[in-house]
Amino acid sequence: MSDSNYLRDKVPEPDEQAELNSVLIKHGQIREVVVSFYTEIAQDDLLSKAFSNVEDWPQHFEIMTNFWWVRMGRASYIYYPYNPIKKHFENGFSAELLSRWLDLFKKSLAKHLNQEQMNAWFLLAEAIGNNLLSKNNEVIRMLNSR
Ligand code: HEM
Repeated sequence: MSDSNYLRDKVPEPDEQAELNSVLIKHGQIREVVVSFYTEIAQDDLLSKAFSNVEDWPQHFEIMTNFWWVRMGRASYIYYPYNPIKKHFENGFSAELLSRWLDLFKKSLAKHLNQEQMNAWFLLAEAIGNNLLSKNNEVIRMLNSR
C-alpha cells in the first residue's frame, strides 16, 4: 500500500515467482495484470458503477496483488483483513457482473501472460468467482427468509 504501515513484510521483488498448478507466475506479472484489469474496469459501463466507491486505486491494486499472490500459495506481505463476501454483497455482486468481470479479466491475462499462465490463472479466478457467487446467493436467501 501507499502507506507503509500496512506492510507486514517486504514487498516481493518483481521477479519472485509463485507456482500455480506447476506454472510459474512472477509477482511483477501479477501486479501488471491487476493494474491493467482495474484500469479497464474503471472504464467499463457495467462494472465501473460497482467500483464507484473505490477511493484509493493504488491501495486497491496492492490489496488485489497481495490477494492473488496468496491464492497462488505465497505468503501475505500486507496487513489487511479481507472480507470478500461482505464487500461483494454490499457492492451488488451478481452472476451478470461476474460474467462480465471474468471476460475482462481474461483479456487482461492475455495481454500480459503466456497461454499456460493465462489458463492456470483463469481457472483459479473462475473457481473463486463461482464460490463468491454461491456465497452471495446464500446471503440473499438468508436475508429473504427472515
Ligand atoms: C472472480 C471474480 C472476483 C474476484 C476473485 C474478486 C476478488 C476481490 C477481492 C479479494 C476483493 C477484496 C475484498 C476485501 O477488501 O475484503 C474484492 C473487492 C471488491 N470487488 Fe471483487 N472479485 C471478483 C469479482 C467481482 C465482481 C463481479 C464485482 C462486481 C460487483 C466485484 C466488485 C468488487 C468491489 C466493489 C470490491 C471492493 C473494492 C473496495 O472497496 O476496495 N468483484 N474483490
